[in-house]
Amino acid sequence: MENQEFNQKSSIMQKEIFEQPGVVKNLLERYIGPDERIKIDLPEKIDNIVIVASGSSYNCAAIAAPLFIEFADIPCEYEYSSEFVLQKKHFITPDSLYIFVSQSGETSDTLNALKMIKQKGVKTMCITNAQNSTMWNLCDYRVLSDAGEEKSIASTKALTAQILCSILILLKIKAKDGEDISGYLNTMRRLPAYLERIKCDFDKIKAAAQLVSQFNNISILGNKNYYPVAKEGALKIKETCYLNVMAYPFGEFMHGHVAVLNQKSIVIAIIDEENAEFAQRNLKKIRQDYNPQIVCITSVQDVKSGDLNIYIKTKRKLKAIFGSLLTLQLIACELASILKKNPDKPHGLKKVVKD
Ligand code: AGP
Repeated sequence: MENQEFNQKSSIMQKEIFEQPGVVKNLLERYIGPDERIKIDLPEKIDNIVIVASGSSYNCAAIAAPLFIEFADIPCEYEYSSEFVLQKKHFITPDSLYIFVSQSGETSDTLNALKMIKQKGVKTMCITNAQNSTMWNLCDYRVLSDAGEEKSIASTKALTAQILCSILILLKIKAKDGEDISGYLNTMRRLPAYLERIKCDFDKIKAAAQLVSQFNNISILGNKNYYPVAKEGALKIKETCYLNVMAYPFGEFMHGHVAVLNQKSIVIAIIDEENAEFAQRNLKKIRQDYNPQIVCITSVQDVKSGDLNIYIKTKRKLKAIFGSLLTLQLIACELASILKKNPDKPHGLKKVVKD
């Protein structure tokens, strides 16, 4: 079907977005034993982690790396696969773990990076949705992200599954260090119900997409883990709507980038407990100086800085990351539908990018 003719209500992309509560539930059942042990094999000792990936899987790396640092106290870096292979030196210790994230397990850039670093004898792990893929067979340690087959070229449920697997890995490291992780596991167990609630607010999400559809100058802002969430939202809109959407860290946006705004622009801001005050202060300034439309996706009850505010209420960052991601995915999918683009047939894109 040609994009121009696209007018169907529900796409494969939307179906896969809606599957996410179930994907999360299955993964938790698969990897958390009745004794609360996480059933993932890890090297005995890990003193630093490097995560390598492309596209949405790279955004998983960028979301997960600060979580490894914050929650598991372990140094963690991340890199685009295509840049990694160009780097002249890689930092390796006897207890380094290199994690390769890939939905397909076959992406050339990531595969080349994996093959290159394997030659140095480093321990490797993959998080992949494809059991028996080339990456699966090459890595020393493997985590199946088990999202079910993902048909949509714009990846959604596979990314959510990858992020959850990354969190389970970091919790396993925490548990090995003797820490009590039961509170975190309870938070994760509440994730499927939380994502179901966000799906129920679909009317608000549709209204946001309707508003966004009136602009082609779109900036998505977020801090820390939410900056890669913002990048993922931008990637989803690019892939499905062919708009040049940019994502920025909130503070950095104020250093010149803000000049792209005017009354014909729209800002989508992701706001949580940690950045609420800072974000609201900057949005006030942005409104005064440029007066764009503003949509806030916020986990904080009393944030009212947007012309439209989508509440994804929770005090837990480990839930809000998934909630903001799902909201942006739905906005992108709905926006494509409003703009009469078929999100299931993105122009010129392939599910697996190979040489
Ligand atoms: C995501 O929506 C994209 N289609 C694309 O960026 C993809 O994530 C990337 O090509 C990596 O694919 P992989 O996860 O299969 O390695």
